[in-house]
Amino acid sequence: MNIQENEQLQACLQKVKQKNMRDAENGKQRYVYIQTFGCQQNEADGEKLRGMAEEMGYRYTTDAEQADLILLNTCAVREHAELKALSIIGNCKHLREKNPELIVGVCGCMTAQQKRVEQLKKGYPYVTFTLEPASLHLLPVALCRVMEEHRRRFFLGDDDGEAAEGVPITRTHPHRAYVSIMYGCNNFCTYCIVPYVRGRERSRESERVIAEVRELVASGCRDITLLGQNVNSYKSDCDFAGLLARLCEIPGDFLLRFMTSHPKDVSDRLIEVMAKYPHRMAPHFHLPLQSGSDRILSAMNRRYTVAHYLGIVDKLRAAMPDITLTSDIIVGFPGETEEDFAATLDALRRVRFDMVYSFLYSPRSGTPAAEREERFVPDEVKSERFARLLALQDEIALAANRRYEGKTERVLTDSISRGDRNMYSGRTASGKLVHYPAEGEVIGQFVHVKIERADPYALHGVIVE
Ligand code: 5AD
Ligand code: SF4
Repeated sequence: MNIQENEQLQACLQKVKQKNMRDAENGKQRYVYIQTFGCQQNEADGEKLRGMAEEMGYRYTTDAEQADLILLNTCAVREHAELKALSIIGNCKHLREKNPELIVGVCGCMTAQQKRVEQLKKGYPYVTFTLEPASLHLLPVALCRVMEEHRRRFFLGDDDGEAAEGVPITRTHPHRAYVSIMYGCNNFCTYCIVPYVRGRERSRESERVIAEVRELVASGCRDITLLGQNVNSYKSDCDFAGLLARLCEIPGDFLLRFMTSHPKDVSDRLIEVMAKYPHRMAPHFHLPLQSGSDRILSAMNRRYTVAHYLGIVDKLRAAMPDITLTSDIIVGFPGETEEDFAATLDALRRVRFDMVYSFLYSPRSGTPAAEREERFVPDEVKSERFARLLALQDEIALAANRRYEGKTERVLTDSISRGDRNMYSGRTASGKLVHYPAEGEVIGQFVHVKIERADPYALHGVIVE
C-alpha cells in the first residue's frame, strides 16, 4: 500500500467512525457480528476484521439479529465449507428484511473467486460488499463507499505484493494468540485453491513480527502460534529458522508454535533451533503428509517422497523424542487406487501420528486435479477408505495418548465446558487437549493436571498442586 492509499484508508476509517459515533450519541449504538469459517489464518483475519470494526465505533455482538454490520469470513478449501457459508449468507435475507440498513460484507477466500462473486452479485442481492483476503485491510474503504454511494461494491484484487501492516486486532483469547508471519502460497498443490485465492507469498518484516510477539508476551500472552500457509518459506532479512531463533530469545513465560509446514522445505537448521530452545518451542510439529503413495504425491505436485518425509520424522524424533506429530491426509485424490490408499495406511502405521486431520478430496474448480474428472474416485469408495483411515488412526492415537496416563502435565486452560460448568479444557505444550474439573479463575492460567484416562482425541485428569 502506498502513502496515498494509506491516507485514503485512514480518511475512510475516520468517516465511518464519526458517523457511528454520531449515531451512538443519538442513542443508536451500531453493532458488528462476525462469523469465521475455516483455518487458523482465517481466525486471525477474523480478529483483524473485529479490530477494524471496533476501531470504527462498532460494538461487537454475538447476536446476528442485533447487528448493523455482518461480516462473514468465508473458506473455500473444500466445497462443504463454501456451501455452509452460502447457506449462512442466505440467512441474512430475513435479517435485511427486518433491518433495511443492515450491511452484509462477505470476506475471505470464497470472495477471491470471480465465479462466486458473480453468484453473490446475482443471487444474493442483500450482500452489500465482498472483500477478498488480500484486501482485508480495506474494510474501512469498502464501508465508506457503500455508505456514501448507497450501492453494492465488489472488490477486485489488491494483491500488490506487500503484507499490510498496522491493522488493529481484537484477540479472542488474551493468553493464546496467532501471529501471521506470511500470507499466500506459491506451491500450487494440484488439489488446492489457496494459491488462487490468497495470492503469492508475502512475508512480513522480521522486526514487525518480533515487535508483535514482544508486545503479546508483555501483555501476558502465554502461547503464540506463528501462522503462514507454508511458514518454511518465510523470507525477509532472515529465513524461518532465523526468525524462530530470534523469537526464542525474547524473555518471558511463553511457548511458541507454528503452522503450517511443507515437508519439502523443513530444514535441519529449523529442527536444530527447535531442539535448542526446549522451554520456548512447543514440542509439536504439524506436517501435512497428504498421501503415503509417491505416485499420488507426485500427481499432487507435493515435490517430496514418502521416504523423504519419513527421514524428517526420524530427525525430529532424534532431536526431540517426545515431540507430538500431527498431519493432514486427503482421501480419494483423483486416480488413488486401493494400492495407493494402502500405502497411506502403511505410512500412518510407520509414523504413528498423534492426530490426523483427514479430508475427503473435494474438487475445486480452476485447480489441475479438478480437471481430471475421468479419474475421480467414486464417493462410496472415498467414504469407505475414509472410515478405514479413521479406525486405524483412532487406534494409533489412543495408544499415543495412553502414554500420558499417570503422568502430570502442565496445561494452559482455555475454556469452560458448555455442558458442565465445573469442567475446563486446556492444552499441554505438545498440543494435547485435556479436560479436568477446576474451580475459580483458571482460564488463561497454567495448571498441573495428573492424567487419569485417555481417549483417541483427549486426555482426562485432575489438577494436582
Ligand atoms: N480437498 C480435500 N482436502 C483439501 N485440502 C486442501 N485442499 C483440499 C481439497 N481440494 C486439505 C489439505 C490441506 C488442508 C488444510 O486441507 O490436506 O493440508
Ligand atoms: Fe495449498 Fe499446498 Fe499451498 Fe498448502 S502448500 S496452501 S496445500 S497449495
